[in-house]
Amino acid sequence: MQKIVMQGLGQNSAGHLTVGGASVPELAKHYGTPLYILDEGVIRRNCREILSGLREGYKAPFTVAFASKALCFTRLYGLLREEGMGADVVSGGELYTALKGGFRPSDIFFHGNNKTAAELEYALDAGVRRIVVDNAEELELLSAIAARRGAVPEISFRIKPGIDAHTHEFIATGKIDSKFGLALETGEAAEVIARAASLKTLRVVGIHCHIGSQIFGTEPFEHAAKVMLTFMRDMREKPGAPLNELNLGGGFGIRYLPSHDPVTLADMSLKCAESVTAAANELGLPLPELVLEPGRSITGPAGLTVYTVGSVKKIPDVNTYVAVDGGMTDNPRCALYGAYYEPIAPERPDAPVTQTAVIAGRCCESGDVITREAPLCDVRAGDLLAVQATGAYNYSMASNYNRLPRPPIVMVRDGAVRLAVRRETYGDLLACDQ
Ligand code: LLP
Repeated sequence: MQKIVMQGLGQNSAGHLTVGGASVPELAKHYGTPLYILDEGVIRRNCREILSGLREGYKAPFTVAFASKALCFTRLYGLLREEGMGADVVSGGELYTALKGGFRPSDIFFHGNNKTAAELEYALDAGVRRIVVDNAEELELLSAIAARRGAVPEISFRIKPGIDAHTHEFIATGKIDSKFGLALETGEAAEVIARAASLKTLRVVGIHCHIGSQIFGTEPFEHAAKVMLTFMRDMREKPGAPLNELNLGGGFGIRYLPSHDPVTLADMSLKCAESVTAAANELGLPLPELVLEPGRSITGPAGLTVYTVGSVKKIPDVNTYVAVDGGMTDNPRCALYGAYYEPIAPERPDAPVTQTAVIAGRCCESGDVITREAPLCDVRAGDLLAVQATGAYNYSMASNYNRLPRPPIVMVRDGAVRLAVRRETYGDLLACDQ
């Protein structure tokens, strides 16, 4: 049987696949393919779950800031705000979108390992809650900018706690061999924070780490909480850097395949709360203000991409290639990380699996593959084919390679549909050409 792995999918009386109560074939007919569909109800539920775990387990202030890199467009921010989320942004473009989407600057954390002077100015102009400083040079740059402006921004620092979170090398970011943040082991973090504490131009309030992405267990977060709080205690003994905010980043894993079995989001956030509380008690520290920055786990399980099959090439004893009308331009994750996805045929979700195939894109590139070894029912040219759990790091990483216009995003909630991002036109492709 074809398998459902994401949340919010169902079937209507015609036997067709539904998302959030809306028929997938109907949506594909109306909006065309490729098409991203997002179930708004699932996004809201995921926000609530994470917040509920913290409400239950954390007895000091906390914030959940959605990691914009996972998915970024204005309508999304409206609903995230309604759900009580903050936002993590890593560029002027994400900051601009978050502000246009209605976020208050005071709910925004500004990250990035190489922010430009112009972006720092923009963040200060906007009045973001926190600039998370990545390195010594950025500290000096921000200090000089702040001195010129006369305001004293509150900052935190990105730390690499030296934790290997057992995920794909390209999305593991907490190890010492990483371009992000300041190393603990070498003394770099302590040195740069001590320098910051000596400056009158800035106020250091906290530390941040992000140990990696698509992490299934709770143990790496427990470990991170311990390491980070121990560092906070050590820094308390030095003058000028009380460090009252702990940001544990994002990274909660989601179900892409039937074999994936992630811990629920409520349990994940509860475990983070408990780990920080236990470590703080053990170290005799007051509870810091806690920040989490989930991205993938909020929107990933809410999204589906729908394609139309263009051809099926069966190469006897070798492989089968099912070509669809999208590709690495709307989902580069297989090409980049060797990611796997679970397909489903929206017109026949009950049809038995009869083959395994490569779902190939339409770009001029052999590596342009959506997923490999995909269990598929019998599909032919003209059939719809949906790929599940594409709500994170798909649209946000989309490109115009081969001058393919990016697909639209429709949002569905209890059967009600609205277009959130329209399909790009050929005209859009020329918008910057002079
Ligand atoms: N906070 C910071 C500072 C981050 O760097 C990240 C992700 C997050 C939060 C959110 O992590 P999440 O909850 O989404 O795992 N493009 C890759 C993922 C890169 C993640 C980078 N940082 C992918 O498609 O798997």
